Amino acid sequence: MQLPPGPRAPAAWQTVGWTVRPAAFLRRVHERFGDPVTVRTYWMDEPLVLFSHPDAVREVFRLDPAVAPAGQSWEFLRPFAGPHSILVLDGDEHLRERRLIQTPFHGERMRAFRPAVAELARAELSTWSGRVVTLERMKHLTLETILRIVFGARGKEEAAQLRDAVHGTLDTVRSMPRMLAMSLVQRDLGPRSPWGRFRLAVERFDELLLDVVARRRAEPGEDSMLAVLLEQRDEHGNPPTDRRLRDQLVALLAAGHDTSAASLAWAFERLARHPHIHARLREGDPAYLDAVVKEVLRVRPALTIAPRRLLEPVGVAGWTLPAGVHVAACLWLALRREDLWPRAWAFRPERWLEGPPPNPMSWIPFGGGVRRCAGAPFAEMEMREVLSAAADLRIRPVRPESERARRSALVVTPHRGGEVLVG
Ligand code: HEM
Repeated sequence: MQLPPGPRAPAAWQTVGWTVRPAAFLRRVHERFGDPVTVRTYWMDEPLVLFSHPDAVREVFRLDPAVAPAGQSWEFLRPFAGPHSILVLDGDEHLRERRLIQTPFHGERMRAFRPAVAELARAELSTWSGRVVTLERMKHLTLETILRIVFGARGKEEAAQLRDAVHGTLDTVRSMPRMLAMSLVQRDLGPRSPWGRFRLAVERFDELLLDVVARRRAEPGEDSMLAVLLEQRDEHGNPPTDRRLRDQLVALLAAGHDTSAASLAWAFERLARHPHIHARLREGDPAYLDAVVKEVLRVRPALTIAPRRLLEPVGVAGWTLPAGVHVAACLWLALRREDLWPRAWAFRPERWLEGPPPNPMSWIPFGGGVRRCAGAPFAEMEMREVLSAAADLRIRPVRPESERARRSALVVTPHRGGEVLVG
């Protein structure tokens, strides 16, 4: 079986290209080889075939998870994410965890978190003056939001302990090469070895998190996603076990923290260079605010691909692809196709207020199908709240030229961290 064409350069070169300049790398391979294109990187043991046409994207998102599981692509996260994690499971087990994890993201329940998100955003922005590296500040804010709203941390001490434990684990998980190397050699070479230290950090984190779960079981509230998850019952009337809850809370942290921080940093990077758009946000029109959020997610998506691994030969867009290879909807390319998005490179929220809505298979910053981002409604709400709290800020870019995209762990961030001058 023949794979679609792609660069012949060694995997090392392609990995560096994609990491250091993801936008240029993906544009180049798309211009040179078209759609689909096959690339090779160190992140994946086998070639990766990228699709960006909406018809092909639909086919990828509809692939049967028994044949094209997504969980295997997150396997390196398992030592942190845990065996019940929605991220590493597929098929019925995945759907079961997905039903559980989605309960806090619906309707009234989701809306009830809005005032707390707005308050956290206002408190963060009130500290800004002078030069601000927005990515660092947004990492801080999105973590505080997760501790308070997802984990239901109460009081400064509980939050501070959890915050330290998150740093102790996530900092390792963020380093992909380290994580991949460690999961290959998962040998316990003592508590001082990198793997031993990581295991200890995860144990410490689990202890704290399970303690919070026990306290919230004893004193339930209605103010957090954990509280909503604790209310759920399975078909036998049993509540979720502590280990299941732990794994789902960690999935929400791992999937929702850096992605939201990167998207918000891009929002500031773009707004600082488009003062007329920022000025219009001050008018307080909710439709325009929503358009700005959608346009940031389109023009600078935090994740570049939604990968699946093929366990059997599969046909996509007329190609028969062999078992073993990875296929992906390429979010970055789909969101920037000139044939679908007029002046695709331009940051133009107006496009969302004019003309017909886009093809749903071309606006895919949250992926699609049964793996579509479970936290998408929360992520968009958080972005709206932060940007509406930032509407009255005076911000300017530190340098006039746009920041280029760079890959940092799994997400794509502005290469200078979205630095702005405030005041
Ligand atoms: C702007 C911020 C975010 C972006 C761009 C984003 C994007 C994505 C993408 C592309 C996927 C994979 C979809 C696929 O494979 O088809 C995903 C999965 C997921 N996201 Fe998000 N995400 C964001 C924020 C969040 C937040 C805030 C949460 C939760 C608090 C969250 C929870 C999840 C979960 C649990 C999954 C796994 C879903 C599954 O496997 O069924 N995400 N996200």
